[in-house]
Amino acid sequence: MANYTPKDILVTGADGFAASHVVNRSGFPKKHSLKFLIYGRTGWVGGLLGKLCEIQGIPYEYGRGRLEDRSSLLADIRDVKPSHVFNAAGLTGKPNADWCEFHKVETIRTNVVGALTLAEVCREHGLLMMHFSSGCIYQYDAAHPEGSGIGFTENDKSNYADSFFSKTRAMVQELLEEYDNVCVLRGRMPILSDLNNPGNFIYKITHYSKVVNIPNSMTLLDELLPISIEMAKRNLKGIWNFTNPGVVSHNEVLELYKQCIDPDFKWENFTLEEQAKVLAAPRCNNELDVTKLKTEFPELLSIKESLIKYVFGPNMKNFTE
Ligand SMILES: NC(=O)c1ccc[n+]([C@@H]2O[C@H](COP(=O)([O-])OP(=O)(O)OC[C@H]3O[C@@H](n4cnc5c(N)ncnc54)[C@H](OP(=O)(O)O)[C@@H]3O)[C@@H](O)[C@H]2O)c1
Repeated sequence: MANYTPKDILVTGADGFAASHVVNRSGFPKKHSLKFLIYGRTGWVGGLLGKLCEIQGIPYEYGRGRLEDRSSLLADIRDVKPSHVFNAAGLTGKPNADWCEFHKVETIRTNVVGALTLAEVCREHGLLMMHFSSGCIYQYDAAHPEGSGIGFTENDKSNYADSFFSKTRAMVQELLEEYDNVCVLRGRMPILSDLNNPGNFIYKITHYSKVVNIPNSMTLLDELLPISIEMAKRNLKGIWNFTNPGVVSHNEVLELYKQCIDPDFKWENFTLEEQAKVLAAPRCNNELDVTKLKTEFPELLSIKESLIKYVFGPNMKNFTE
């Protein structure tokens, strides 16, 4: 098992996760025969992936094509000659997922037609596609009640389609599951040590006027993005819940924020019913079962441990200054 320190990679550029140190069990090419083609150059996740590749010395290029334009994807593959393709291109909705309710065709074009076109083109070229998707396709239910510790597994059918974003994500995942060259990473509520990024769950909940308070599975990107690269090197395929194990609630995160970053920070909670009045589409809350990922990466931290290690520990302010 590789010895790595993802935080060092993203923040300081240390080579704790250097590709040259990774033993490749699947017989996949080693460092110098790796070349990643990444979609999402201008995006949050795509940008971070490129930085990680630079730090790890992995050759990479960003795709120039649009996902729904098959000929542009073929041109990228011809020009770049990649060993793996990462799809971090997708529409999440700006400023939030409500955007997808009012732009359904655009959402289908990128997240459905685009994702399937890229999977198909990769398959024709014998390429593994690492697909950054979403675990927001479940809602707590009687068999998976909130607080029970019983999470949704990769085999559970989606039980949530109340938002158009989630509905299309679930549909596409069901189809991508049939492709033997695709690895679907089901992230949720992504968090990063950079607290100034508007996509960061912590940025969002510290800027909302009111927040709900519900435990959820979340993805600590400092820890999990390097794991996505390692998953590509191991040639892992299929559907993967891609969050840290366990759950954390909005108030637990905000308490930590108050303790470590801003002692004067105050917030106000509201109920799900009150939240629904200010949203075009309801949001889902769930716990994902991360046994599969934790078995492959036993060192994976629980979400609460990961928050301390990668976010609140390094960002902690010295209040005596
Ligand atoms: N699995 C996980 O852990 C996880 C975590 C976070 C996000 N995600 C997923 O990762 C994806 C990216 O998220 P993000 O937060 O990085 O989003 P983002 O910052 O909004 O970036 C989206 C990227 O997608 C590109 N894009 C959009 N439509 C495209 C198209 N039709 N063809 C080619 N490129 C297109 C955008 O490029 P232009 O600006 O040129 O349009 C941009 O580079 C989303 O699908 C999201 O659901 C997964």
